Amino acid sequence: MHTLLTADELAAGIDRLAAAVRADASQPGARPLWVIGVLTGSLMVVADLIRRLEGPVRVSMVGASSYRGTATTPGRLDLRLDLLPDLTGQDVLVVDDIFDTGHTLEALVVELGRRGAARVRSLVLLRKTGRSEVAIEPDFVGFDIPDVFVVGYGLDFDGAWRHLSHVAALDPSDIVAARHGPAAVPVDPPGDARP
Ligand code: IMP
Ligand code: MG
Repeated sequence: MHTLLTADELAAGIDRLAAAVRADASQPGARPLWVIGVLTGSLMVVADLIRRLEGPVRVSMVGASSYRGTATTPGRLDLRLDLLPDLTGQDVLVVDDIFDTGHTLEALVVELGRRGAARVRSLVLLRKTGRSEVAIEPDFVGFDIPDVFVVGYGLDFDGAWRHLSHVAALDPSDIVAARHGPAAVPVDPPGDARP
C-alpha cells in the first residue's frame, strides 16, 4: 500500500471542514447541531471534527455497511438506525468517511429528513472521482481522491487497517494477500505489543 494522505494533511483537511461547518451554522449557537456519524468508518473524522466545532453540539451514531469481507465493490446497503434520538426540528450533520457511489449518504439524508429534521447537511472526508450514482452531493468534502480502494483513518478493508493515522491506497498485491490470510500486510512496528 502507499500513502495517499498523511496525518498532517488529514488534520489540515479537518480544520478546513470544521471552519466550513461553523460558517454554515443556521443560527450560530441557537440550536444544537446533531453530528450523526456513520459507523464504523467515520469514527476518526467524528472524533477530530467535533473537537473543532463551537456552540452546542450533540453526537449520535448510525450503522451502515455495504461491503462484505474482501469485496471492494458495494453490495446491499444495511442501515442500523436504532441508536438515533428523536430528531424532529433539529439541525443534523451526517458524517461519513467516504462518498463512493453515494447510496449510503443519499439513503441517510432521505431518512433523516423523513424523521423530521429541520435541516440536514452532509459531510464526507473523502469523495472518489467519477463514481457517484446518485443525484445528491455532500455539502462538505475534505478531499477528492482517485477511484482507488483506500484504508486508514477509520476506513477498512475486511476489518483491517482502520487504526492507521494516515490514508493509504491499497495496491492489487495487498488485496490478493488479504484474500489469502487475515491482514497479511504488517503495519505495526515489531515489538509494539503491550502486556
Ligand atoms: P457508497 O454508498 O458507495 O457511497 O459507499 C460508502 C461506503 O462504502 C463508505 O461508508 C465506506 O464504508 C465504504 N467504502 C467505499 N469506498 C471505500 C474504500 O475505498 N475503502 C474503504 N471503504 C470504502
Ligand atoms: Mg461506511
